[in-house]
Amino acid sequence: MFSTFLLTGCGRGGKQEVIVSLNQQEVHPEYTGMTAFKNYIESRLGESFEIKIYPNGTLGANEKVLEQIKQGTVHFLVVSAANLEPIDRVYALFSIPYVFTNEAVYEKFITDPEFVKKLIANSTNTSFTPLVAFTSGTRNFYARTPIYSVADLVGKRFRVQASPVNVAMMQAFGATAVPMTFSEVYTTLQRGIIDGAENNELALTLNKHGEVAPYYAYNMHQMCPDMFIGSNKFLDSLTPSQRQVFEEAAKEAQRVEFDAWHKQIEEAKAQAKAMGVKFIQVDIKEFRNKVLPLHEQFLGDNPAIRSLYEEAVVANGL
Ligand code: GCU
Repeated sequence: MFSTFLLTGCGRGGKQEVIVSLNQQEVHPEYTGMTAFKNYIESRLGESFEIKIYPNGTLGANEKVLEQIKQGTVHFLVVSAANLEPIDRVYALFSIPYVFTNEAVYEKFITDPEFVKKLIANSTNTSFTPLVAFTSGTRNFYARTPIYSVADLVGKRFRVQASPVNVAMMQAFGATAVPMTFSEVYTTLQRGIIDGAENNELALTLNKHGEVAPYYAYNMHQMCPDMFIGSNKFLDSLTPSQRQVFEEAAKEAQRVEFDAWHKQIEEAKAQAKAMGVKFIQVDIKEFRNKVLPLHEQFLGDNPAIRSLYEEAVVANGL
């Protein structure tokens, strides 16, 4: 319904409305980051642009909004690297389990300004450009029943983000991957259609998954960032100086998101405990050894990730 003026590029008072979509709630660190993005731009280019943030996936599941990014009817999107993998295989890097094993190393890696340049250099897509990466912490398995070792995954159905690498990973663990969009996870867990899922601790609290899958095992299989991407149709319509402001605003959003993340993730752990979630320390090596043989396989059939993969291995000190 808003597409008419989007296509003409004009909103109220001759300003162009810039549509930003994310699947997280208003209390999530990424929304705080997006607010910083909006303020940064409007305080400098407020006569030309009004930034409209649509949280909670109100514009649709990220997998679908990517189509609107391509059309240029949504201008910016916060989306997991895993959801970008089917469009651009360089993003598969982050679904490979245990590419990163230390959050400080991972955070330094994805905030290095050279990082997005390297992604772009190895990219094949022409519809969007990554501006910055947001942290989304560490992904761990959680389920309706306890997970003490890999044996507890075997034969179970686990929701994963819709990415081929995620499916192969679950197979290697002896489980069945059920690719599904984020917003459906709570109900399917509640109904027992799936046995478990994997995510960071904010999914337990903000998305209430901890109510229906209260066993959370620290196996630490992935550190998969959310990418803040811009539609090329929109970015190409900006003047060089406008584009520079949008890029600076994205960096500011990244700084704000990381700060909010570090604070909120600790609060989420305490809240989850209060909700009745049981945090389980597992033997990470046991999980890692199951999936390490996949690394060579994924590298072999995806040359786009090789140079970043090698840098990640060096950064990790493996
Ligand atoms: C995290 C991540 C989201 C992603 C979600 C998922 O919450 O931040 O971008 O969509 O996991 O598992 O789908």
